[in-house]
Amino acid sequence: MQTDVSQVVSQLTQVSKGFTDGDQYHQVLDCVDLTLNIGDTIALTGPSGTGKSTLLNIIAGFERIDSGELQLLGQQAEQWQDNHWSDFRRQQLGIVFQQFNLLTPLNVLDNIRFPLQLNKLKWSPWCDELIDKLALTEVLSRPVETLSGGQQQRVAIARALVHQPALLLADEPTGNLDEKAGQQVMQLLCELAQAANTTVLMVTHSNTCANYMHRRWHLEQGKIHE
Ligand SMILES: Nc1ncnc2c1ncn2[C@@H]1O[C@H](COP(=O)(O)OP(=O)(O)OP(=O)(O)O)[C@@H](O)[C@H]1O
Ligand SMILES: [Mg+2]
Repeated sequence: MQTDVSQVVSQLTQVSKGFTDGDQYHQVLDCVDLTLNIGDTIALTGPSGTGKSTLLNIIAGFERIDSGELQLLGQQAEQWQDNHWSDFRRQQLGIVFQQFNLLTPLNVLDNIRFPLQLNKLKWSPWCDELIDKLALTEVLSRPVETLSGGQQQRVAIARALVHQPALLLADEPTGNLDEKAGQQVMQLLCELAQAANTTVLMVTHSNTCANYMHRRWHLEQGKIHE
């Protein structure tokens, strides 16, 4: 089957990655082939310790692959220098972590504005829409550490999507939330990513959350099964 390269956000070809622990080598990814297309929403599942976060870290450039090819937005990324990776992350990537990772001295508005400032972008109607849809209007001036878990995760989503990134990586974004708040966050994440035409790769342990995505990848023993 031929791949339309203009539709590909990221492609991994025969990617392997492992870690050395003492004198033991532990293979985490074993000749993995993957393609993320524009607009895909993918749930990544698999037992704890199999390498789901490692895969996200590879696509975000926080970890380097041992062998294989990593293509991002039409470029071969395994040769990129640190400054190229920083540009890619700042402009093209949104990241939502399980632990929120918000900037705690700042209030909600300043957290959301942060990626805009880094990219020298202006506040736009899209930013207002995010704040409205994520029900953050009332809490904009509150320090983020005074918010509930669900509220903090909604701020994290706004911050990850405010610059309309090509790709959103989410690592168990509802792991710290109760079921109702988790489902609300999933609903909003999907709706907003679709509105921004952002591709989503999300790690989750929850079947309910995985069902919000269109595709599902399961990682086990270094291999990915769709
Ligand atoms: N920087 C590192 N140095 C050494 N080993 C690492 C490093 N990062 C990950 N590992 C190891 O790689 C394996 C995969 O870790 P990873 O965090 O990717 O798993 P995971 O699937 O995200 O697990 P969980 O569901 O518990 O979050 C683990 O055995 C982990 O100890
Ligand atoms: Mg993990």
